[in-house]
Amino acid sequence: MPASRRGSGSFTLTTGQTIAIHTRTQDEEDLPHATKKTMADHLRKYESLFTLTPQRMRMIVEAFTETLELGLNKPNQIVPMIPTYVFGWPTGQEKGDFLALDLGGTNLRVCLVTLQGEGKFEISQTKYRLTEEQKQEDGQKLFDFCAECLNTFVETNTGEGAGQLKPGQSLPLGFTFSYPCSQERIDHGELIRWTKGFGAGNTEGRDVAEMFKKSLEKYQLPIKLTALINDTTGTLIASHYVNPKTKIAVIFGTGCNAAYMEHVKDIAKIEHLGIDAGAEMAINCEWGAFDSFEHEHLPRTKYDTIVDDTSNKPGEQAFEKLISGRYLGEILRLVLCELIDEGVLFLGQNTYKLEKPYCFDTAFLSLMESDPTDELLMVIGIFTHFFALETTLAERQFFRALAKLIGRRAARLSACGIAAIVSKMGYLEEGCSVGADGSLYNKYPGFADRVHEGLQDIFGDKGRNIVTYHAEDGSGVGSAIIAAMTKHRKDAGLYLHV
Ligand code: GLC
Repeated sequence: MPASRRGSGSFTLTTGQTIAIHTRTQDEEDLPHATKKTMADHLRKYESLFTLTPQRMRMIVEAFTETLELGLNKPNQIVPMIPTYVFGWPTGQEKGDFLALDLGGTNLRVCLVTLQGEGKFEISQTKYRLTEEQKQEDGQKLFDFCAECLNTFVETNTGEGAGQLKPGQSLPLGFTFSYPCSQERIDHGELIRWTKGFGAGNTEGRDVAEMFKKSLEKYQLPIKLTALINDTTGTLIASHYVNPKTKIAVIFGTGCNAAYMEHVKDIAKIEHLGIDAGAEMAINCEWGAFDSFEHEHLPRTKYDTIVDDTSNKPGEQAFEKLISGRYLGEILRLVLCELIDEGVLFLGQNTYKLEKPYCFDTAFLSLMESDPTDELLMVIGIFTHFFALETTLAERQFFRALAKLIGRRAARLSACGIAAIVSKMGYLEEGCSVGADGSLYNKYPGFADRVHEGLQDIFGDKGRNIVTYHAEDGSGVGSAIIAAMTKHRKDAGLYLHV
């Protein structure tokens, strides 16, 4: 038996839990493990399932570009291309104190943002974790919780000094509500559908800005809802505030979506509003819905189909389900479960812990891919600590390779989405920066490099002109800048139209 080795480390899961791991290698011979050869054979099969060729990517880009056009031309399309009523870029000179509330996929965040002009800002914030019940129970209750958190934040941040609210000060609030909402003006938004596993009742089809205002009234807060925004729109504006080369923003988090600045003249479906054709308006693509229901263009494996069928919204968010942090761990878990059923993995061991849907956090894929040890000690730690399973080195190498396939596919599909916007807007020659944010982009090792590699596979060498970078905090700073831009427009008598 080889000498055992020890290793230790700690990491934080998306659930907020911090785990310390102490392990030693255990290539024991007393359990019937899969051989190196079996694992290599299986890996080849998954390689062909999860690999996207450049040619396939170009086909996806073509279909994607057509879908974006369709969403701009006609209302109520699957990829809705939502006009946001955020007109043009910030000047960088926006100033003042703004509150920002961010209802994301996992947390609720309240921020006080002080814009100082010249692309500078200060921010203080508090984060609250959302429970599964809050995501599913009545919508009004969810907004009441948002107002309650705002109330506590205002109470604890009122005083003298920097980063403090002055007593009696009334503040404009930007509400980042990152779900598809169709808007008629910037402080309005009808929820088209919940995404990212949310399902709060009595909310779809209703104006969430109105619902939230009702909750604000309960607490009689000195706050005015100025703008309802999407996280991608906030990221677009915040990133441009500090890096004016930014033309596109993408979120790679629990969900996946993009926003960019469009010429009003090219948004045919709002022509009747008579907005100045020379103006520009940010579009929230809601591209996570690409290929929903029809499943014509994306390479779905049977694991993706299971993820979809067992989700609370079957058929919907087809693109997002192949890419975002909410689903990648589950895809890998389903492959492992198949190999357990086929009698390949973990023979003689109790696998019940791994059989629970969504128990395999996407953070595990990141950790497996970044394990620096030859023996893959981190992978041992994950399997023993969370699933009480012993693994051999050959199996661990297989798990890591599988994570790489799934992570790489997600990044390459994301590149297809970015490429579609780049093609549509003609940004390839002059190049552009893409502000990107979200746990996958920020924490998954090599994700950005894989997106860039994908862009080069699609566009050839010119793909290098498109560069993603870690964006500014869109839901906090972006929302404050948009609130400032909106206030400025209102003060100038320009509410809806340019
Ligand atoms: C989901 C939401 C979208 C959001 C994205 C990233 O796709 O529908 O509005 O921008 O997640 O958070």
